[in-house]
Amino acid sequence: MVEKKKEGEMKVTPWEVSGDIDYDRIIKKFGVEKISDNLLDRIQKHTKDLHFMLKRKVFFAHRDLKFILDEYEKGNKFFLYTGCGPSGPIHLGHLTTWIFTKWLQDKFNVELWFQFTDDEKFLFKNKSYEEIQKWMYENMLDVIALGFDPKKTHFIIDTQHANLIYPQALRVSKKISFSMVRAAFGLKEDSNIGSIFYTSMQAVPAFLPSILKKKNIPCLIPHAIDQDPHFRLTRDILPKLGYYKPASIQDSFLPPLSGVKGKMSSTEANVAILTTDSPKEVERKIRKYAFSGGRDTLEEHRKHGGNPDIDVSFQYLRMLFEPDDKKLAKIEKDYRCGKLLSGELKEILIKKINTFLSHHQKERVKAKNKVDKFILKI
Ligand code: TRP
Repeated sequence: MVEKKKEGEMKVTPWEVSGDIDYDRIIKKFGVEKISDNLLDRIQKHTKDLHFMLKRKVFFAHRDLKFILDEYEKGNKFFLYTGCGPSGPIHLGHLTTWIFTKWLQDKFNVELWFQFTDDEKFLFKNKSYEEIQKWMYENMLDVIALGFDPKKTHFIIDTQHANLIYPQALRVSKKISFSMVRAAFGLKEDSNIGSIFYTSMQAVPAFLPSILKKKNIPCLIPHAIDQDPHFRLTRDILPKLGYYKPASIQDSFLPPLSGVKGKMSSTEANVAILTTDSPKEVERKIRKYAFSGGRDTLEEHRKHGGNPDIDVSFQYLRMLFEPDDKKLAKIEKDYRCGKLLSGELKEILIKKINTFLSHHQKERVKAKNKVDKFILKI
């Protein structure tokens, strides 16, 4: 039977996320595993505290995390690998993954390899090469502003480090057929031929450090769940080339201001908060667009309370801006019982975001002098 795509139906691929996202279905469909309490305990043994994104299941799934911890406990340290496709401004949704990645880097004291896929965005977006280069520079400032350690963080740029990456991508691509890529990514006969090759470039950082250091090093990839099809393929290929399968840990999407079921995207500027937004813009966007789980009238809200589960402002606090569990629980309780109003909840969030952004924007300016320190030199 042919399945028809219904209104609001979920679609999650590296290049399109749409519809109502159902994470339990994703877990089944992609074949990733939920992060068990036992694994959380094992992480906590090394990190002392548990990041709130783990406790609150913002990072909700993984592949082979147990292997990473087993090896780590044997003294075989892993490295982290994540990346950014530079095609526009950075928004809060991008930051979720990177903030957690920095926590992992600090707690486990490991290297991070950070890939900028300017080739990918040139191939998949209707933008010029020059425009992509401009966004890449801007995006680097945001990554650096988060405070990664330049001594342990290496930026690799697909076009600029082509001499290093391309020979390895070739080895990967020789093991992948067109039909595998077509199935994994939904590419079509008329897709451009660069896009068919592309996934081999994204596979490379998962084993490049092993090549450079001439020994196999386990790799852990923190990433948003839409990138999983790439790494499913990478995991099939790398053992054939003599390397470990990379492990991964996946987070859910920070929703757009318009509702909790989608993914924030910078192509819809009104429902995304950009890292360069002014305090006034943040105020305007949250007040005007942040979907509220509150009641229609003050009276009704006081009587029946609001619903934090569908309230975007509450969800931003839960996923990103209120690390303190007690404070979050109090906000939730007060909102549910009607003591806290939707407008008041929005003001709490606006303050949090603007405090964060004022610091981030200062660091972003300072980052201009640091870019060179981060770019890998070989
Ligand atoms: N393809 C990713 C994007 O579009 C960028 C990326 C490259 C990436 N390597 C990665 C993301 C590893 C997460 C992990 O943004």
